[in-house]
Amino acid sequence: MDKNPLYSEKVMEHFRNPRNVGEIENADGVGMVGNPTCGDVMQLFIKIENDKIADVKFKTFGCGAAIATSSMMTELVKGKTIEEAVKISNKTVAEALDGLPPIKMHCSVLAEEALQSALEDYFTKNPDKRIDLPRLKKHKEP
Ligand code: FES
Repeated sequence: MDKNPLYSEKVMEHFRNPRNVGEIENADGVGMVGNPTCGDVMQLFIKIENDKIADVKFKTFGCGAAIATSSMMTELVKGKTIEEAVKISNKTVAEALDGLPPIKMHCSVLAEEALQSALEDYFTKNPDKRIDLPRLKKHKEP
């Protein structure tokens, strides 16, 4: 197949074969965010063990760039501590995919915000586990 002129091969590969799609039963945190630019929606499920993201799954009702960035984000955060995971920004995810066209950068924000939303849910359910993470403070419910 010819190379896509807009998207890197990594983006196309994650779009065609997204990793970690689905739901986690009895997830420790569930995040749900909408992208105000286009109306696309993402749901993210996390399982926390020993303060690490032991498992993560997502469902994205959105464009190809949103699916590819969600997929890459789940791969990057799996096995990380909460503190490490929160540092993974949408830019980190886009770089790991060898870039996104500027017009599609807003799509990568969905994955970052869904993770923050899922962590916020986890901290609400487990107040004793809450850690002060400056990046989380930006998050607003959709
Ligand atoms: Fe909506 Fe990409 S166009 S997330």
